[in-house]
Amino acid sequence: MKAMRIHRYGDASVIHQDDVPRPAPARGEVLVRVAATSFNPSDLGLRRGLLRALLPLDLPCTLGGDVSGTVVEVGDGVRGLAVGDRVIGRGAGTAAEYVTAAADTLVAAPTAIPLAHAAAIPIAGLTAWQAVFEHARITSGQRVLVNGAGGGVGGFAVQLARHAGAHVVATASRRSTEAVRQFGADQIIDYTTTPFADALDEPVDAILNLVAVDARQATTLVELVRPGGVVVSATGPVTPPAGSPVTAVHFVARNDQSHLAALVRLVDAGAVRVDITASRPLADLASVHRDAESGHTRGKIILVP
Ligand SMILES: NC(=O)c1ccc[n+]([C@@H]2O[C@H](COP(=O)([O-])OP(=O)(O)OC[C@H]3O[C@@H](n4cnc5c(N)ncnc54)[C@H](OP(=O)(O)O)[C@@H]3O)[C@@H](O)[C@H]2O)c1
Repeated sequence: MKAMRIHRYGDASVIHQDDVPRPAPARGEVLVRVAATSFNPSDLGLRRGLLRALLPLDLPCTLGGDVSGTVVEVGDGVRGLAVGDRVIGRGAGTAAEYVTAAADTLVAAPTAIPLAHAAAIPIAGLTAWQAVFEHARITSGQRVLVNGAGGGVGGFAVQLARHAGAHVVATASRRSTEAVRQFGADQIIDYTTTPFADALDEPVDAILNLVAVDARQATTLVELVRPGGVVVSATGPVTPPAGSPVTAVHFVARNDQSHLAALVRLVDAGAVRVDITASRPLADLASVHRDAESGHTRGKIILVP
């Protein structure tokens, strides 16, 4: 099968399409024929070796963390999945024609959208879900600022915060304004022209931060939150000054089947839209990495074998 692999860390030129043996599912695993994977910014860090202290790769290594596809083989001991089932999940080595995954990490794919589009859901959707419901615990009537709403996580975060009944303020540049409005944002601040502090007329209960911020920007974010409110950051930690009445949470999203299944239900109910900004052949992965590194991508991009 074809697999997009790196044999060493480096720039996008280290990504190669290799012919490799099709894997066989181990006990508790299934083999999935990949309908699509999706691009996530963490793929860049993995490829460059920036995450090697935390997540050392066994090189050569197939890239890709999201998958949607069809089960084509079932390993021993698997219950609840059968050949032909359409699934999504967060895995490893999904930038390939086939991937094995632990059966208990996968959930049934949504039926309301094309299977390939559903590859956009796992990492971005789980991150947004956990930011909104676990860490910020958004409830109806709260004011929430989604910083970085134009990205893949941001699109889900805006929709989930709206679904929770929040008033959503979002930052986005012009290219993402229309999409973010469609996701339901009540107010959009163009971060390229307007400082938040000038655009917000009252403090927010929570900030979902999806953008790398320096210390000065982190201080500004904290100042926008009411006492007792929270800054939840999926990028670097945001540290409020000592004695601040604002709480800060920095988190790394985890795989959680119940969260993923809940997202799928919302997609099937039409409450969450999966917005695909580009569908590219898997063989174009290096080019997608280059586009992302030069700031030419937005939203969720799927890659189809
Ligand atoms: N902690 C975790 O577990 C976890 C999981 C997933 C992702 N992440 C991290 O979360 C971040 C967002 O992920 P993602 O997948 O959404 O990334 P993404 O899709 O690559 O986000 C790109 C978007 O960021 C927006 N942006 C860039 N600079 C901005 C600024 N100064 N202010 C506001 N928006 C800005 C741009 O929006 P416009 O189009 O509006 O310009 C762009 O479309 C990344 O840093 C990623 O590594 C963390």
